[in-house]
Amino acid sequence: MSAVSNLVVDDLLGAAFARVQAEVDAAFDAFLAVPQDSRARLVEAMRHAAIGGGKRVRPLLLTATADLFGVSRTSAINAACAIEAIHCYSLIHDDLPCMDDDDLRHGKPTVHRAFDEATAVLAGDSLHALAFDILTQPDTSTDPFVRAELVECLARASGYDGMAGGQMMDMMAEEADYDLHQVTRLQQLKTGALLAASVEMGAILGRLPVEGRGPLRAYARDIGLAFQIADDLLDVEGDAGLAGKALRKDEGKGKATFVTLMGADKARAQARMLVDQAASHLAGFGEEARLLQSLARFIVERDR
Ligand code: IPE
Ligand code: IPE
Ligand code: MG
Ligand code: MG
Ligand code: MG
Repeated sequence: MSAVSNLVVDDLLGAAFARVQAEVDAAFDAFLAVPQDSRARLVEAMRHAAIGGGKRVRPLLLTATADLFGVSRTSAINAACAIEAIHCYSLIHDDLPCMDDDDLRHGKPTVHRAFDEATAVLAGDSLHALAFDILTQPDTSTDPFVRAELVECLARASGYDGMAGGQMMDMMAEEADYDLHQVTRLQQLKTGALLAASVEMGAILGRLPVEGRGPLRAYARDIGLAFQIADDLLDVEGDAGLAGKALRKDEGKGKATFVTLMGADKARAQARMLVDQAASHLAGFGEEARLLQSLARFIVERDR
């Protein structure tokens, strides 16, 4: 399975995805050397989740933002691996029987299926720790203040005020009667927080002062919401073979999503409106931001 659809990718974006996918795979391969003792199983499980398969949307968001400010490739790829390690950990735990109970991810068995539940929990825990380990390495930035700011940003985006908080709200969505406002909040945390952190970490590496981050933050907020609307649309309309994961799960569980609340047509229109709005926030960057513009479009038009 190719990780990225060739239907919706222009040449610039296609090449950028291929490059970042290869670099992130190579970096994880180096970070995750398998020890010659009984921890081997744990590291094999981490490699199963982290190497190959994913689209690497968060790494591409981070590196494309960092490119606006001339950040070195090593720094950007290290930070990209940190955010992707959090993403991979979140998927391992999301797939566990106590959460979504899924058997397939990236077209292969989920970690608890390929290994076992206890190993999957530990592989998620260890990818979570690896993310912060990477961010504190001098290779990521020689400036300790930059490293601390990266850690702060990723920690906030991962915990109760970010992804994990969104996952809690998502679990409650099966019983709670969420309205559009609450579903928006849920999605901003569950999905939007890590996507926004990807852009923010690119800006931190680029030493962009907080006062100058408004347009990039506005872009990230809009694509974050559009991304989750696309995921919800794929759940209803997508091809499980292309997605590499089980679909048609949200409605069966009685889960409120943008699609169940608005209907597919309105949700799609909303996602496209958000992408146009996201693009307009980047107008000040001109041609330099073409990759971020294409990526925004990919996020809603994707088929996996
Ligand atoms: C899937 O994210 C889970 C959500 C946050 C909706 P992605 O679609 O980015 O996952 P992969 O890594 O590319 O499969
Ligand atoms: C998972 O959301 C989001 C996180 C892991 C933070 P979903 O449960 O909708 O993702 P998929 O559909 O399994 O990829
Ligand atoms: Mg879930
Ligand atoms: Mg899931
Ligand atoms: Mg989903």
